[in-house]
Amino acid sequence: MPLFQPILSPLPNSLSFAGKSAIVTGANRGLGRAAALHLSQRHISTLILAVRTIRNGDTTKAALLADPVVQTRPVQPIILVYELDLERPSSVASFASKIRTEVAALDILLLNAGGGSLRWETTPETHTERMFQVNFLSNAILCVRLLPLLRATAERTGSPSHLSFVGSRTLIDNTFTKYPVPEGTSIFAFLNDPAKFRMMRYPDSKLLVFLWSHSLAMRTDAARVIVNSVCPGMVEADMSHQSWWVRNIFYILFWIRGRSQEVGSRALVGALAAGLETHGKMLWDYTVWPNEARLGKEMEERLWDETLAAAESVTPGSVEEAQLKD
Ligand SMILES: NC(=O)c1ccc[n+]([C@@H]2O[C@H](COP(=O)([O-])OP(=O)(O)OC[C@H]3O[C@@H](n4cnc5c(N)ncnc54)[C@H](OP(=O)(O)O)[C@@H]3O)[C@@H](O)[C@H]2O)c1
Repeated sequence: MPLFQPILSPLPNSLSFAGKSAIVTGANRGLGRAAALHLSQRHISTLILAVRTIRNGDTTKAALLADPVVQTRPVQPIILVYELDLERPSSVASFASKIRTEVAALDILLLNAGGGSLRWETTPETHTERMFQVNFLSNAILCVRLLPLLRATAERTGSPSHLSFVGSRTLIDNTFTKYPVPEGTSIFAFLNDPAKFRMMRYPDSKLLVFLWSHSLAMRTDAARVIVNSVCPGMVEADMSHQSWWVRNIFYILFWIRGRSQEVGSRALVGALAAGLETHGKMLWDYTVWPNEARLGKEMEERLWDETLAAAESVTPGSVEEAQLKD
């Protein structure tokens, strides 16, 4: 990890999302909120803030609409606030159903919500390991359910929709090389066994995101939906939920090398405007990461099968509707 990160150049002035509809998950703070502001300033027509707390979402909406650059737009964006809690599969299913019934078009799905922890923590509904559920599985289920809408929108507009996952280059520090999931063992069961938990589960969860986005891209026509993932580098984030020593280490790291949320979120927006060459790839900042080669490849097909089965159980019929049955 280099001590200093390269400068991330500003987004081009000409970049516009006029006429487009977008969902940003985790839009109430951090990178998601900063990306939502970029989109609002760049003429997005409809912006859906997918958030855990509606009241905070309303505050974010008001702040976006009050932004001086947004206010100079000839037409103000339509901003809608929807509830989504990725810890709860029932929330994922009901969010996706609402979008499918209430939203006519979707050009952009930015799956940003997520986070890290060094501790074993479980979710309230399914008692799965939290990072596995929030960073990976719920996002995967959501994108299966929303893929038909992204596709249909592209067919209408004649230009590809974008499905972008916020990944992390820490995936290269995943623990699967050293501690592989044994052949014939369920990856899901392995990751949800507290005895197998490792402090580096965050990089593991981001490797799953990358493998899944790659598998999905291989089965999706890029002329309809460009599927990519993006890492914004190290970006200042709220660490208040971490223990004091983790918090302090990160605050020092942020001070030395962290990007601001405005700067880091440029990479997210770059992925939403990127071309076919990014399909199935991960962007590090604005550049396709060339070294994905065989990282985690031995897990990819197993992960695909287990994830489709989970998607089918949470949102029955979604796999066939998304044309993902092999
Ligand atoms: N910061 C970095 O250096 C960095 C680097 C690479 C990748 N990333 C990735 O970038 C994304 C955003 O990170 P950030 O730095 O902006 O973190 P952050 O400031 O902690 O924001 C995380 C966002 O995710 C939402 N979220 C967390 N758990 C959720 C859940 N169960 N359901 C729905 N939403 C949930 C939070 O919602 P609430 O507001 O309700 O808490 C918040 O809006 C994450 O996926 C992270 O892994 C970050």
